[in-house]
Amino acid sequence: MPSPRLLAFAGSLREDSFNRKLVRAFADAAREAGADVTLLDLREYPLPVYDGDIEARGMPDAVRSLQALLAEHDGLLISSPEYNGGVPALVKNTLDWVSRPQENGDSGVALYRGKVAGICAASPGGLGGMRGLIALRDLLAKLGLWVAPSQLAVAGAADAFDDQGRLKDEGQRKSLARLAGEAVTAARALRKT
Ligand SMILES: Cc1cc2nc3c(=O)[nH]c(=O)nc-3n(C[C@H](O)[C@H](O)[C@H](O)COP(=O)(O)O)c2cc1C
Repeated sequence: MPSPRLLAFAGSLREDSFNRKLVRAFADAAREAGADVTLLDLREYPLPVYDGDIEARGMPDAVRSLQALLAEHDGLLISSPEYNGGVPALVKNTLDWVSRPQENGDSGVALYRGKVAGICAASPGGLGGMRGLIALRDLLAKLGLWVAPSQLAVAGAADAFDDQGRLKDEGQRKSLARLAGEAVTAARALRKT
């Protein structure tokens, strides 16, 4: 049976993003658990804030590229900061654009439905982005994804990673491995082909 394929991205664009580091570690953990992981940089898929008039003039290329990628994968791995306790506009906007109709007229939401998501967060603050994960979990479930029950919020992120980008704390590494394991097991069980 082929390995489940997971698409991973950080919900932050900045170069030194803690969530970029965490999603790399998350992707590695999912590979360890047996998945093929494609790590995306959302900077390579720039999108305007959703505007129906832009869509009416022609779907942005980045939407078509992301839809094609999602079609080839069994789920998502996301590490995202929380902004004011919620999901950053980048993440919501990207998920919204991808939910719009595909080129063949099929619903974009169908690309999410029945797939798997694993979510984590990193923040220099004390809660690690935990409140944003509640909102992100809800958003992904509304799109029809099965969201892994575990999650990880890395607080004090400025000191949480070593020079290689590995989480310093063994407990957090184990939590990430458990979360990745749940996502990979579910992706294997739920995959359609
Ligand atoms: C608009 C805005 C709102 C933020 N709100 C929160 C917040 O609610 N909780 C929190 O822990 N950090 C908050 N932060 C700080 C981010 O966690 C911090 O900038 C973090 O480094 C962003 O993630 P990144 O390192 O992956 O870019 C906020 C930052 C911005 C720009």
